[in-house]
Amino acid sequence: MTEMTPVTQDKTKAVPALPDAQTVTEVKHYTDRLFSFRCTRPASLRFRSGEFVMIGLMGDPHPETGKVKPLLRAYSIASPSWDEEMEFYSIKVPDGPLTSKLQHIKVGDEVILRPKPVGTLVHDALLPGKRLWFFATGTGFAPFASLLREPQTYEDYDEVIITHTCREVGELTYGRDLIEGLKQDELLNEVIGEGFWKKIKYYPTTTREESPRMGRITDLMKSGEAFADLGVPPLNKDTDRAMICGNMAFNLELKAMFEDYGLEEGANSKPAHYVVEKAFLD
Ligand code: A2P
Repeated sequence: MTEMTPVTQDKTKAVPALPDAQTVTEVKHYTDRLFSFRCTRPASLRFRSGEFVMIGLMGDPHPETGKVKPLLRAYSIASPSWDEEMEFYSIKVPDGPLTSKLQHIKVGDEVILRPKPVGTLVHDALLPGKRLWFFATGTGFAPFASLLREPQTYEDYDEVIITHTCREVGELTYGRDLIEGLKQDELLNEVIGEGFWKKIKYYPTTTREESPRMGRITDLMKSGEAFADLGVPPLNKDTDRAMICGNMAFNLELKAMFEDYGLEEGANSKPAHYVVEKAFLD
């Protein structure tokens, strides 16, 4: 366990350090509904790109006992396994117990991070294939932000397709900036190979605001439009592997479509053709 004292500490009072505390190093706001932040990484924490951990803050004191308890939620780790820091991408829910507070964190503040990573969106849960698909809605992009920066993604596949369906254009910014950033990332270009990012096909769509590509990815696949745009055939169990992370209706609809394509769901203990995680909302 790492214990740190808050930077904003009032030195006249003894302020107990949070359990499993990490210090916030960067905060970026994208829309009134979305933000990302980075924090220090526990020295002992090892995880696989695509996994999630519990993070949070101390809750308000109990009205009668005055006791405070940690308020924790599962968050996909958006940074890759090799990163010195941790990154998270979060929704802001105005009356959400955690995110209504978390959205106000600043550099130097502390967050609680339980160092017990788990999850199914990992390379180990998929059989070898040629083309890897990432399907995300909203903050479901987070685990793919990790996997898109993971060298194994490009070592294992010839092609990486990332689809991101959001309501509004501004919700695409985090993902778009991240993918653009890969082109200039000297470290990754050196480690994985110059121009590794050319394997990526990015397919952003919006449903409630005008953008170059409109519609739900599920509908665009059913009509065949998405495959035509991307220049690839529909998913096939011999070549394609997929990871899904979005809202519940999206996950279920895609699962049903994949079963129609003949793909089987995999797990850490039994790798197969696709894996699903739900986006963790407040
Ligand atoms: P829509 O605007 O048509 O509901 P949310 O913010 O509600 O989690 O939604 C994020 C994005 O996921 C929205 O663009 C939404 O489209 C889309 N979406 C919701 N349900 C599905 C589904 N079953 N299949 C595909 N996309 C979906």
